[in-house]
Amino acid sequence: MLKGNFDIPLDFLQARTPPLIGVDISASSVKMVELSESSKKSGYVVERYAIEALPKDAVSDGNINNLEAVSDTLRRAWKRMGTRIKNVSLALPAAAVITKKILLPAGLREEDLEYQVESEANQYIPFAMEEVNLDFQVIGPAPGNAEEIEVLLAASRKANVEDRVAAAQSAGLKTVVVDVAPYAAEMAFDQIRAQLPGGAADQCVALVDIGANAMNVNVLRNGQSVYARDQQIGGDQLTQLIQNAFGLTAEEAEAGKRNGGLPENYESDVLAPFCESVASEVARAMQFFFTSTQYNEVSYIVLAGGCAALAGLDDAVATRTQVNTLVANPFAQMVLSSRIKPRQLQTDAPALMIACGLAMRRFDPS
Ligand SMILES: Nc1ncnc2c1ncn2[C@@H]1O[C@H](COP(=O)(O)OP(=O)(O)OP(=O)(O)O)[C@@H](O)[C@H]1O
Ligand SMILES: [Mg+2]
Repeated sequence: MLKGNFDIPLDFLQARTPPLIGVDISASSVKMVELSESSKKSGYVVERYAIEALPKDAVSDGNINNLEAVSDTLRRAWKRMGTRIKNVSLALPAAAVITKKILLPAGLREEDLEYQVESEANQYIPFAMEEVNLDFQVIGPAPGNAEEIEVLLAASRKANVEDRVAAAQSAGLKTVVVDVAPYAAEMAFDQIRAQLPGGAADQCVALVDIGANAMNVNVLRNGQSVYARDQQIGGDQLTQLIQNAFGLTAEEAEAGKRNGGLPENYESDVLAPFCESVASEVARAMQFFFTSTQYNEVSYIVLAGGCAALAGLDDAVATRTQVNTLVANPFAQMVLSSRIKPRQLQTDAPALMIACGLAMRRFDPS
């Protein structure tokens, strides 16, 4: 059970939520996913999704710089969805949230627990308490000490939450869940883990999300994160390289990257070297993982984010790291509604990990 003691709870673990759509507001676009429950046991149906480009710099480093642009884009994306659902779940970027496990005495009364959490939180949170949303969740008895319990604290700047909620609100949408991006991605990752032999039990799997500006590496074992790291490399760099190589505008380069029609030497002179540099960043991240944890093997690399759709990136990563590499498709085992174009979803799926995880909050609050 999770306690929220402020107006907009960071409810990672709330009771069952009403119908909602998952909405990922990220650097390059707004992404929406609507799932419903399949009549088959424990399955999902992909009802609708939409990806709507954001103007440059409307969102950067997870912050909303241009509320109006974000809200306009949300409205357009929602219209394109053609849904009636107005409840949404949103995610905060990892950098906007501080999480910390703390130990507290077992057997505290509810009010005492809340009080203790707040006073402990004070020590870990570098902002004034009135500036933050604070949530906590009792994990359970502390390992090896029955006198104590483990509690997970989560705090975020109110401004980060409020900007997102306000953007949604002025697009006519109601925020019912605020999650954290890596948690949402982990929820969608369970769909991918189910596609791996033996569910990748007791194996380390690296989820590598390469977006517009950033590459987030999250190594999971049995669905739990054991290592996370961000690097500054993403698809915008490739767009810039294309612009420089062929004298194109950003829009032309972006369209060429997705739909083809670039000069013949694009693949050999621009795309392949870019894939190589991404692959060597992934390899470096794996080295960091090995040196900073007890683990010395990664069994799979799962590529997510818009760049995962780049032809040859998976091969470049597999060759460089010598690890089985696949492209994320959290919808692979879901039923698709007749509105969905399967080929297009296949291409878009890696970029929809977070929106998919957020949409799953409708059924499966973690
Ligand atoms: N089909 C495609 N082929 C090639 N590149 C693509 C494709 N779709 C998206 N991209 C690229 O992926 C990037 C956007 O990916 P994504 O939507 O995952 O980023 P983001 O989440 O908005 O950004 P960030 O994670 O950095 O905040 C852009 O650089 C875009 O050009
Ligand atoms: Mg992203």
